[in-house]
Amino acid sequence: MFPLIAPSILAADFANLQKEVEMLNASDADYIHVDIMDGVFVPNISFGIPVTEAIHRHAKKPLDVHLMITQPEKYLEAFRKAGAETISVHYEACPHLHRTIQEIKSLGAKAGVAINPHTPAELLSEIIEDIDLVCVMSVNPGFGGQKFIENTYSKISRIKDLILAKNSKALIEIDGGVNLQNAPFLLEVGADVLVAGSFVFNSTDPEAVISQMKKLRK
Ligand code: DX5
Ligand code: ZN
Repeated sequence: MFPLIAPSILAADFANLQKEVEMLNASDADYIHVDIMDGVFVPNISFGIPVTEAIHRHAKKPLDVHLMITQPEKYLEAFRKAGAETISVHYEACPHLHRTIQEIKSLGAKAGVAINPHTPAELLSEIIEDIDLVCVMSVNPGFGGQKFIENTYSKISRIKDLILAKNSKALIEIDGGVNLQNAPFLLEVGADVLVAGSFVFNSTDPEAVISQMKKLRK
């Protein structure tokens, strides 16, 4: 049932990761969004494979793993083994994107492609039929808690048009600066999956915020 809600564990209390995952288990979240940053593709380092595996050990929701790393093809199998159900790689990090997508699928995972704010929607035209998810970055990747970029609305519309034109089954996920104020408008222009980190985890009642997002209608 849409919208699908994917809280980003990046904004959680890492000293209480099990408790945070259990909160998400009890919530209306559909996925746990897992942000992997390598300090090269993005100017920040988050965590890697062992922590993803630890999250998976406690998670009752599927892991939506967002690889903000160079050469992601080297680590696909490791993240799949660590429990990733969906693996998104960045368009900007993959010179052989088609091959990388095929590899993700051959591991039995769903394949996503993430695009930075400056990357035009149209660049997905030759790949949109092959993927399960487009992760539209609505901030420059690297940090939680940034301001939503307004150009994202029109970009979502262009991606939606592309999906319809190519008869693709890809879902549109919005990642960065999502909150209860902009979410209704994101859904109106075609978003299917909402990632939210700081808006969920910085609230006094994260479970209630997730429920409120889940109750929004497309
Ligand atoms: C940004 C990450 C996002 C981030 C979202 O590089 O990809 O998933 O955790 O956090 P908020 O919702 O705080 O912008
Ligand atoms: Zn992300």
